[in-house]
Amino acid sequence: MKLDIDRFISSMTLTEKASLCSGFTNWHTKPIERLGIPSIMVADGPHGLRKQELKENEFQMIHDSAVSVGFPTGPGLAASFDRDLAFRMGEALGNECQAENIQILLGPGANIKRSPLCGRNFEYYSEDPLVAGEIAAAWINGVQSKNVGTSLKHFAANNQETRRMAISAEIDERTLREIYWANFERAVKKSKPWTVMTAYNKTNGVYGSENAETLTARLREDWGFDGFVMTDWGAVNDHVAGIAAGCELEMPASGKFTDQLVVDAVRNGRLSEETLDCAVRRILTIVDRALSGRDESAVFNYEKDHALAREIAADTIVLLKNDGAILPLNPKAEIAFIGAYAAAPRFQGGGSSHTNAFRIENALDSARAYGANIGYAQGFSGEADETDLKMQAQAVELAKKSDVAVIFAGLPDSFESEGYDRTHMRLPDCQNALIRAVRAVQPNVVVVLHNGSPVEMPWAADVDGILEAYLGGEAIGAAVSDVLFGSVNPSAKLAETFPTHLEQNPSALNFPGDSKTVEYREGIFVGYRYYDAKKLEPLFPFGHGLSYTEFQYRNARIEEIDPVAADVRVAVDITNAGPRFGKEVVELYIAPLKAKKKRPVQELRDFAKVALEPGETKTVRFSLGRRAFAYWETEIHDWYVAGGEYEIRFSASSRDCRAALTVRLNGDPILPIEITPDTLVCDLLEYPGADEILTPLIRGIALTFLPENFDFDSEKIDPTILNMMTGVPLHSMRSWMQDRFDPQMLENVIDQFKRHMEKVAKRR
Ligand code: BGC
Repeated sequence: MKLDIDRFISSMTLTEKASLCSGFTNWHTKPIERLGIPSIMVADGPHGLRKQELKENEFQMIHDSAVSVGFPTGPGLAASFDRDLAFRMGEALGNECQAENIQILLGPGANIKRSPLCGRNFEYYSEDPLVAGEIAAAWINGVQSKNVGTSLKHFAANNQETRRMAISAEIDERTLREIYWANFERAVKKSKPWTVMTAYNKTNGVYGSENAETLTARLREDWGFDGFVMTDWGAVNDHVAGIAAGCELEMPASGKFTDQLVVDAVRNGRLSEETLDCAVRRILTIVDRALSGRDESAVFNYEKDHALAREIAADTIVLLKNDGAILPLNPKAEIAFIGAYAAAPRFQGGGSSHTNAFRIENALDSARAYGANIGYAQGFSGEADETDLKMQAQAVELAKKSDVAVIFAGLPDSFESEGYDRTHMRLPDCQNALIRAVRAVQPNVVVVLHNGSPVEMPWAADVDGILEAYLGGEAIGAAVSDVLFGSVNPSAKLAETFPTHLEQNPSALNFPGDSKTVEYREGIFVGYRYYDAKKLEPLFPFGHGLSYTEFQYRNARIEEIDPVAADVRVAVDITNAGPRFGKEVVELYIAPLKAKKKRPVQELRDFAKVALEPGETKTVRFSLGRRAFAYWETEIHDWYVAGGEYEIRFSASSRDCRAALTVRLNGDPILPIEITPDTLVCDLLEYPGADEILTPLIRGIALTFLPENFDFDSEKIDPTILNMMTGVPLHSMRSWMQDRFDPQMLENVIDQFKRHMEKVAKRR
């Protein structure tokens, strides 16, 4: 169908226009029957379809929804570092939406994992904006390839659940640009989501749903977004201010209350009718796009999507530790599976992303399908944090008489959910105690973890194997068995750092803030950017993940370079030097060498995943543009590439650089310096060609410390004196030079310097 939007707008009453800007039900936009304007349906998202079919007068709990397939949640999908996989998951979900007559799927959640404690971390991808943006874009492109819209959320800086509907995230300009907006910017530019969902919280005092800077200046004007913006559910504070700022749709229904406010605002001049028309046009454009792309023939193939969920899940599991090659397991060994999650995996988190799974596969049954001889002991209850000595003793007994113990640990449902944050980073104490007790009687221990965010592992050094299985969707149990028995070679890597303990994390002193604000004092030093800068040893670094095979990185080379435009093409050859098929995630970091401005030691600027047969070599190529080398310069409010040397690192993890190249870039025009009598000499000396202008001045000041007849041409000034002198402001030359000072000198230096800066600017 094709809606004649202009005709609709010209025939709509003011009340009808206002009514379109709020929901009809929890999940529908408003229809206008008089004009034949249809309604569209939205549903959560992001890792499975949560379709709630509201029947009249029927109340539905958040977890009541139609049966669907639970796919791996955000952290695992990001850990796959696999854009194709994210696309395929999106495609499957898009098809399910068509089959279920859903027009917009409410995801992905691309927020940055700032603190391990955020209750909703299991829905988010990474501590790094590039990974979050890339995976989000691939997922969006997959869903939208089926002519179903997405809603990139929660824009922006919704990084905690505590007081999420009111707290203000206080974030400086550079940090917003480089971290908390960069993820959204990348996703919007690479995938053009049909809609964006605002954050509940405020940023620097302004609600996400009424922030013109984010919703209009950034999203539309800078990044080219052309869909409509909706509020998170109930995130409206001032609907009229929201529409004016660029937030078109209030969700869910407002009971007509806010519609009237919009009508009044137009009547009393607070909101122009053109702005309202523009909002209506944006909504109708997407309604039209959705209905034009309607595919009545789509079928929800549960078996097929479940099989895909299993395939994806296997590629989201991170092998964190594998001492003595304890994995893969020999199915002929006597194996003890211990822990409640072996029989009932924890595969998703609580809240609006909760799916009603089609079929849950557990590791226990799946492992038996490998012909393995498995004993099982529950060990702990899986819900409460209470040590059950009887269960623990049974687990210890079983472990004692087995060849190897695999302990399935993780966070209970109540520990991780939308709506509240975790209060600590530990596993339940009863699980830590169980791991210790089993390890005391069994030297061969593997721990499998189910959690959406890092946990402390006080026993990490004492066990040989650790698998991070995250909340990997309904098929995670089978996928874990695939990895345990080696039919799948693990290939995922952490898209977040696992600190040794909570306090090691950069946000620890400023999370979750006081009652009104949370200050992001760590600034740009989020995740690995902090651990690297502080030279801290986390438990497992960003980008870490092992394989059952070995990869070699060779022949790192520059294939093309334009040092003026900062365009660089590089390549590296990756060889599978081990005995099995495997996939390697190649991480490309850029490290500015001798940066004058505060910069992270290195930043991830691209990644690639390459599949290799034993002995096979493939070339991986990367194209780096100026943005890969740039930082946000607050002096000019723009991205800036500093001239100088950069190291390009090809790494297997953020702490495992395998090959590196150095490039020299011309950089952007030198930034002008503001020169006044207050300017420090050392700041001026940073400017090219400055020493010549400043020499008479420095000499004049130096004579305060030197004999009158000091010969500047043949003798060297003591460097300590030089350092002291350069730390002074220009005006202080008066007191240093005393009666040798002539006010004209100061003016001359300032004038000459200004002229010099103009000349340099022209030359470039
Ligand atoms: C969540 C959103 C979700 C919406 C609809 C809100 O509470 O924050 O992520 O899409 O509910 O369920």
